[in-house]
Amino acid sequence: MQIRVKGCFMITIFIDNKPFQIKEGQNLLQACLSLGFDLPYFCWHPAMHSVGACRQCAVKLFKDDKDTRGRIVMSCMTPVAEGMRLSIDDPDAKAFRASVIEWLMLNHPHDCPVCDEGGECHLQDMTVMTGHTYRRTRFKKRTHRNQYLGPFINHEMNRCIQCYRCVRFYRDYAGGRDFNVFSCHDSVYFGRHEEGVLESEFSGNLVEVCPTGVFTDKTFKQHYTRKWDLQTAPSVCVHCGIGCNTIAGERYGTLRRILNRYNHEVNGYFLCDRGRFGYEFVNSGKRIRKALIKQDSGKEQKPAEKADALKQVGDILSNSKGVIGIGSPRASLESNFALRTLVGADNFYSGMSPQDHRLVSLAIDILQKGPARTPSLHDVEMADAVLVLGEDLTNTAPILALALRRSVRNQPVESVAKKRIPAWDDNAVRHMVQNEKGPLYIAAITSTRLDDIAAKTFHADPADIASLGFAIAQELNPQAPTPPLPSGERTEVRGNANADIMPLVREIAAALKNAKRPLIVSGTGCQSEAVIQSAANIAWALCSSGKPAELCYAVHECNTMGLGLMNGKSLEELFKPSIREEGRNEGAETVIILENDLYRRADEKIVDEFLGRAKHVIVLDHLINPTSSKGELTLPAGTFAESNGTLVNNEGRAQRFYQVFAPDHDIQESWKWIRDILAQSGRSGAVEWKDLDTITAAMAAALPVFKPVLDIAPNADFRISGQKVPRQPHRYSGRTAMLANITVHEPKPPESLDSPLSFSMEGYEGQPPAPLIPRYWSPGWNSVQALNKFQQEVGGPLKGGDPGKGLIEPKQDARPAYFSFKPSPSGQGEEQALPRYRIFGSEEMSMYSPSIVIASNYFNKS
Ligand code: SF4
Ligand code: SF4
Ligand code: FES
Repeated sequence: MQIRVKGCFMITIFIDNKPFQIKEGQNLLQACLSLGFDLPYFCWHPAMHSVGACRQCAVKLFKDDKDTRGRIVMSCMTPVAEGMRLSIDDPDAKAFRASVIEWLMLNHPHDCPVCDEGGECHLQDMTVMTGHTYRRTRFKKRTHRNQYLGPFINHEMNRCIQCYRCVRFYRDYAGGRDFNVFSCHDSVYFGRHEEGVLESEFSGNLVEVCPTGVFTDKTFKQHYTRKWDLQTAPSVCVHCGIGCNTIAGERYGTLRRILNRYNHEVNGYFLCDRGRFGYEFVNSGKRIRKALIKQDSGKEQKPAEKADALKQVGDILSNSKGVIGIGSPRASLESNFALRTLVGADNFYSGMSPQDHRLVSLAIDILQKGPARTPSLHDVEMADAVLVLGEDLTNTAPILALALRRSVRNQPVESVAKKRIPAWDDNAVRHMVQNEKGPLYIAAITSTRLDDIAAKTFHADPADIASLGFAIAQELNPQAPTPPLPSGERTEVRGNANADIMPLVREIAAALKNAKRPLIVSGTGCQSEAVIQSAANIAWALCSSGKPAELCYAVHECNTMGLGLMNGKSLEELFKPSIREEGRNEGAETVIILENDLYRRADEKIVDEFLGRAKHVIVLDHLINPTSSKGELTLPAGTFAESNGTLVNNEGRAQRFYQVFAPDHDIQESWKWIRDILAQSGRSGAVEWKDLDTITAAMAAALPVFKPVLDIAPNADFRISGQKVPRQPHRYSGRTAMLANITVHEPKPPESLDSPLSFSMEGYEGQPPAPLIPRYWSPGWNSVQALNKFQQEVGGPLKGGDPGKGLIEPKQDARPAYFSFKPSPSGQGEEQALPRYRIFGSEEMSMYSPSIVIASNYFNKS
C-alpha cells in the first residue's frame, strides 16, 4: 500500500522476505543502499545515476511470493515497485556477483601494496564483499601505456575495470571534451587522445569517482600516506567564496591532501581543482613559523620569541596615539571580530579593495532587504531558467558553474519524465534529451567556459551588460526603470555584432517568466555596481509577479560575505588622494593588518605611501608576502588547517572548519594572537575568550547578525558516550614510533580545547553529528563510498542535517524601490581596464601551491 510521507509516496518492498518502506521513484540499488544493505556496485554513482555497465549489482527478483525461481536483474537498472520481492542473499545472485568480480579482476594487476588507492579502494571493498578471494587463472595480463595528464592526476590504466564512471563524469557531467574512452579489439582505454594536461577544471574528481587506482592524486603522491595514517578533520575550502566542504588530512605536520566532504546543500560530491590541489600553501617554505621583528634601523626581519613579540606589541599599543585594524576576507569571522574588538568598531577597516567593499556591501544590502532568496548550490542545480550577468563563473566560482551544468538538464528531463522514463536511467534520458537544454543565458565581458551550454550569450562591457539586465527587468515589470539600450557597436550576441538587443531581452524575460524556479546569477566579477543592481531589479520584478525568484551573487574570497556582514569601514578612507597628499594618517599611527596582502587591494604606490605614513605596522599572516615582509612585527597566523573558525560563503551560510593538526613553533589562530595582545596590554574582555565557543558567543552578542553561528556545530564540551570524536582513525599506525628519532616516550597528544574533536585515535568511532565528520568509514567500506552510510538516503542530506546555517534571510513581502540605471562613467569609445579572473592564477593562497603554479603557467600562456 502506498503511503504519502513528506510529499513522497512510500511503498513496501520485500528484501529476503522482510518488508521495507521505501520512497517510490528510485532504483533498487539506491533503495537497498539507503536501507543499509551491503550490495556491491561500480558503475552507478548517486550523482551520475545508472547505466548498467558493470553488472556487479545483481539481485534476484521474484514475480510474487509463490515464485521460487526468480530471475537475475541489475538492481541499478530496476525501478522499485509496490510489493516487489527480491533477494540479495540468493545463492544464484551471489554466484553471479562473484563471477562478475572475477572477470573484472582478470586483467587487474593486483598491485594494491604499491597502489595509492590501496586501503581506501572501492574495488578492494567490493572484492572482499563479494567473496572473491583466490585467483583461478594464470596468463599474461593485458597492459596499457599510461599518460602524462598534467600536475594533478596520475594515470595507471592497467587497474581499470571499465566501469565508465570517469568518462561519464568528465564529459557528461562536467562538460570536458579532451578525455574519452577509446577501444580496439578487447582493449578499452580511458584517457586523452594524446598525452597532455587535462583541461577540465574538475579533473581532480576523477580521483574520487574512479573506483580503483587508475586516477590518483599526484600532489598526494609527493608526500604519500595511507588513509589510515592520516589525521583528518572537517574543513571548508578557502580558495573562493563558495565554501565547498572538505576533509583535510595531515601526517608529520604536513598537510597531505584534500578530499571532498559531502554537503547536500553546497558542493555535493565534487570539488574544483583549485580547491582540491591549492592546499600546499600550508606546507610552503614561505610560511612564517616564529614571530618576526624588524630591528630599529635594519630592514631585515628576525625571528623572535613569542613573549618578546607580545611585549613589543603591548608597548607599541600602549604608546600609540591611534590604532587601526585592517581585517581580511580570507580570515575567519572570529579573527576579524577579535581585531575589531582590539581596535574598536570605528577603527576597523574591512580590508577589501574599495571597489569590492562597495560591491559586497551592495550585494548584502540587496539580499537582506529584498524579497529574492539566495539559493544553496543544490537549489542552483534545481533552477529551470538561469540568467548569468557579468560573471565568468568557471573562473570565479567554479562549483557554481558545475551546478549550472546540472540546471540546464531540468527542463528536458522533466519532459522525459512525462514519457515515464525515470530520471536515474541516465542512458535513456541522454538518448531522449540529446542536445536539448533548458534556458541558460550568459551576459559576460568575454566568452566563458559555460557558453557551450548557453541558449544565447551576450558579450559586452559591464555598462551594456547592466543595461541588458535593466531592460529585462523592465520587460518583466513595466514599473522597473527603463535603461538606455546597449549600443550595437559594442555588443555581440553569439557572434552577431550589432545585433538588435530587444528580441534577446524579450526572449530572456519570457524564459524567466515561464520557469518554475528562475535564477539570476551575478557577482563582483566585472566590478560593476550597475550589473549587481540590474540583477536585483530582475529578481525583484519576478518576485512582484509572484515568482519565487532566486538571486545568487558570486564573491571572490572565502569569508567575503562574513566580513561584509561585519560592517567594517572601506579602505578608500585611508587610501583617498586628499589624505595621501596631506600625509595624514587618519589616526593610523599604528596599523594592524590581519591576513591580508594590501598590495592585492590597491596600487603599489598607494599602499607604499599608506604603510610609510604609519609609525608602526603589525601584521598577522601565514606567509611572507609583500605586506607581511613590511611588518615591524609579523606574527605567525595559523592557516585553515591549523585553526578552528567560521567562514560565511556567498550564500550567507556560516560554516565551521576545524584544526587538522596542532601547529608547530608559535603558529596559532589570529584571534588567539589578538587575545594574547589584549591580555598583554591589560584590556578587558580578553581573558574571557578562553576558547572558540567563548569568542563566538562574544561575537554573537556584539553583532546579532552572527547569532545563528552559535548553532552551526556542537560546542567544545560536546561528547558522545562521554567521548570526543577522534581525528585519527582506529587503524592509525606508528603512534608510539612516529617521533622515535626524537624521543622513545610517547608524547602526550596535543589538547584540543576548541572543539569536540581529539588529536587521538581514541574516542567515539560511530557516526558523529554532520559538522564533525572527520572522514568516511564504515565496516567493509573503506573508500569514499562509505559516505552512503552517513546519508539519510543515498544521494540525500546527511543524517542529522547538512552543516551550516544561513545568516541572510530575504524579506519575502518587501517591495523595495527598483534601482535606476546610472550610465557608466566611461563614455563610449574610451578604453576600460576590466579584470579577467583565472581559476589557476587569480587566487592568492593557491598560488603558493606548486601544482597550481604549473597549471597556471600552462593555461594562462596566452
Ligand atoms: S578508469 Fe576508473 S572510472 Fe574509468 S572506467 Fe576505469 S575503473 Fe572506471
Ligand atoms: S569552487 Fe571554490 S570553494 Fe569549491 S572547491 Fe573550488 S575553490 Fe574551493
Ligand atoms: S552498478 Fe549496476 S550494473 Fe553497475
